[in-house]
Amino acid sequence: MMEADVLIIGSGAAGLTAALQLATTKKIMVLAKGSLSDGATAWAQGGIAAVLEPGDKFENHIEDTMVAGAGLNNRATVEFVIENAPEAIERLAKLGVPFNLEGNDWHLTREGGHSHRRIVHVDDATGWAVQQALEAAAKANPNIILVPDMVAIDLIMGRHQERFSTSGRIHGVYALNRQTGKVETFTARATILATGGAGRTYLYSTAPRGATGDGIAMAWRARCRISNMEFMQFHPTCLYNLEVKNFLITEAVRGEGGILTNPKTGHRYMPDYDPRAELAPRDIVARANDAEIKRDGLDYVHLDISHKPAEFVKEHFPNIYEKLIGLGIDITKEPIPVVPAQHYTCGGVLVDLDGRTDAPGLYAAGEVTQSGLHGANRLASNSLLECFVFGDACAAHIEANWDRLPPPPAIRPWDESRVTDSDEEVVIAQCWREIRQFMWNFVGIVRTTKRLERAQHRIDLLRREVEDYYSHFRVTPDLIELRNLVEVADLIIRSALSRHESRGLHFTLDYPETNEEAVDTVLVP
Ligand code: FAD
Ligand code: SIN
Repeated sequence: MMEADVLIIGSGAAGLTAALQLATTKKIMVLAKGSLSDGATAWAQGGIAAVLEPGDKFENHIEDTMVAGAGLNNRATVEFVIENAPEAIERLAKLGVPFNLEGNDWHLTREGGHSHRRIVHVDDATGWAVQQALEAAAKANPNIILVPDMVAIDLIMGRHQERFSTSGRIHGVYALNRQTGKVETFTARATILATGGAGRTYLYSTAPRGATGDGIAMAWRARCRISNMEFMQFHPTCLYNLEVKNFLITEAVRGEGGILTNPKTGHRYMPDYDPRAELAPRDIVARANDAEIKRDGLDYVHLDISHKPAEFVKEHFPNIYEKLIGLGIDITKEPIPVVPAQHYTCGGVLVDLDGRTDAPGLYAAGEVTQSGLHGANRLASNSLLECFVFGDACAAHIEANWDRLPPPPAIRPWDESRVTDSDEEVVIAQCWREIRQFMWNFVGIVRTTKRLERAQHRIDLLRREVEDYYSHFRVTPDLIELRNLVEVADLIIRSALSRHESRGLHFTLDYPETNEEAVDTVLVP
């Protein structure tokens, strides 16, 4: 059994921010299910939104966030995050993130839904620079132990104690060590979930392989409420390429003048859909791309920035330029074939402004949460920001309430006396494929009640199969993820079925109108 003061599950922007804040006084252990840089943070391209341009105001950023979120956002959360953004950027710059500058000022780029230039960035690979800076600081801190290759399975609740307790307090987590194949017990006074999103519930996603919603599923099993899971964000411009399946083309390409055209007609269609054209919020652009593709039977639409000077394009998007040149596409001379793909999980574990979940001792930050920031559709580049502000908020609350957090009791070790090694790995691979396929086809950008019900029937069947499998066989990383995918897909479908309107990212042909009152979906375990 390994014991820390605070256990953090996830080594992305949210987890490492919390770790660095707490490590001045506490012993911290950070688990990651693969390597430390495997989360979405390292993949972020565009940047981080903050009010830094002269003439811009917090009120503008708040308003843009609420407009993108279709009014479902919690205004207090939006204000909290946006007002703390400039300070979060300063902290990152002090940690050594080499943000692009213009003279002595930040170089700010523009993205859809933002009324001002507001995005600080490191070329077109901001996330990688942020992840490296956070990791370097964490590795240098003697109070932080980083534990890669440790797949969290389930939170340790009161009932796992030697003496039965019903408090529901979380004391840590059971996790599978990928190296040894053994399940280990990690305990702490406080646990922070920072496990990222659930993009891999969908066939096409820009998210990394590990985005299987583990934290959301673990919190649900630990009796925490889960909210707004129907609001899955689809990014309008994922590269269409038969070999490279999930390479994002940053929204900043449109921010810097890129236009969307129909490859069949050459027509620039976004002005037909929205007066903001290519800079409309993401849900609108993704639906427009989807509509063009479906109407004309296309494989993709075109994103074109080749009308800008070649030097400008290469200077602003060096990584995209290099990647695509390697695939035979010169973006300074020709358009990029793109399709919409799942990109961000707006819903998640309900948290308050201190990052507290429903379970005592359990906090959460980042993409795993529903904090009230994003509402029905996340505004571009607001999510890394949420990780920094809420990572910090969890740390501050734990620090301030340390004496009220009881030390963990003795915990029963993981029991595998009644399971054997799997003899049918093919079942896992098949279930993975099925879920991702029907989620894409039946719970995608445009929905109907009938399609959602079809998805529900399939998930009910798969749940029985996966539960049966889980109860008979020793856990493996794939089985742990599959069990979570089933849970999360179920939460998404149930949430989508319960919303009888179209709002933000949830668009259904059966309820095309938006209700007057904006109400969160809250699933209670
Ligand atoms: P992540 O960075 O995803 O980290 C999750 C961590 O949890 C990982 O360390 C993982 O190993 C660990 N973990 C997960 N499950 C387990 C488990 N069972 N056991 C142990 N550990 C586990 N947002 C912006 O604001 N600006 C952008 O420009 C931007 N660009 C993006 C580009 C792409 C391609 C993608 C996919 C996303 C982008 N986003 C962007 C969104 C943003 O990157 C993410 O929302 C954010 O990085 C999430 O950070 P996080 O700390 O919550 O989780
Ligand atoms: C992008 O660079 O387009 C992604 C930005 C984001 O997801 O916020």
